[in-house]
Amino acid sequence: MFLVSLIYTSEMNVSTDFTDILAVSRARNEREGITGILLFCNNNVVQCLEGSREVVNKTYARIVRDTRHQNPLLIDYRTLSTRLFSTWSMGYMPESSVTQPTLLKYSVSRNFEPRLLSGESCLRMLAELSQKVHTVQ
Ligand SMILES: Cc1cc2nc3c(=O)[nH]c(=O)nc-3n(C[C@H](O)[C@H](O)[C@H](O)COP(=O)(O)O)c2cc1C
Repeated sequence: MFLVSLIYTSEMNVSTDFTDILAVSRARNEREGITGILLFCNNNVVQCLEGSREVVNKTYARIVRDTRHQNPLLIDYRTLSTRLFSTWSMGYMPESSVTQPTLLKYSVSRNFEPRLLSGESCLRMLAELSQKVHTVQ
């Protein structure tokens, strides 16, 4: 069984409390060998899940059925040789972690529009943002 990563984006209310979502996600991901990162910005979630293909697919299928977010869009799905977010069962990056220079580096504008990012750009952007470890909770 080899490693895959999956990135999707969805829309979510700005008043959403992530405490509960993260607690459930981290406990379950820990059990299932999933690592990853979740970014919330501009009413959009961007989440990367890493782990075995079977578990990542099943987890994504559960997540898209969750009514706490809408309009999920699969951005990237690939096999991995190494995990990029191996230290987080689900790292959380709030809006404040996204900077305009980083957005411009990976997209055509300084606006945060994950639906317009290529899979490669999105993965690289998440990896760069997550390096600023003080913003990951
Ligand atoms: C934005 C968002 C991200 C989520 N991320 C995960 C995750 O990484 N892992 C996970 O197991 N559940 C995650 N969930 C929760 C699942 O949707 C689901 O509620 C949870 O896995 C429990 O599923 P169950 O009640 O069918 O057992 C997430 C939910 C939302 C809204």
